[in-house]
Amino acid sequence: MYNEKVVEHFNNPRNVGELPDADAIGENGSFKCGDTMKIYLKVKDGIIEDVRFQTYGCGAAIASSSMLTEIIKGKTIDEALQVSNQDVADELGGLPPLKLHCSNLAADALHDAIANYKKKQGSVVKD
Ligand code: FES
Repeated sequence: MYNEKVVEHFNNPRNVGELPDADAIGENGSFKCGDTMKIYLKVKDGIIEDVRFQTYGCGAAIASSSMLTEIIKGKTIDEALQVSNQDVADELGGLPPLKLHCSNLAADALHDAIANYKKKQGSVVKD
């Protein structure tokens, strides 16, 4: 059902854990299945220097969370804001249609973290 890349990220997720000195934290949960994700960003000069995640969810949610951290590390906050759930699914080589919503968990948690970061900086993110 899952391709090799998804299985590999599920078995060896990157950047798992917390960042105690995070500059921004974002959270998201799926009403559909109850899965949740929390993401921590360390930002320096507008660039995401480090990122960690904690996901309680299905294999696709964990693989999506892991892939998302790889995609956004080193990007500017504004570049990261452009990353969509489709980008995450594409980087994973695709997800089964019934599991596509799982990549929303990661992208939406990221967008929540960025909104929180911008709020702290005194600016507002528009959807
Ligand atoms: Fe809940 Fe995948 S089934 S995020």
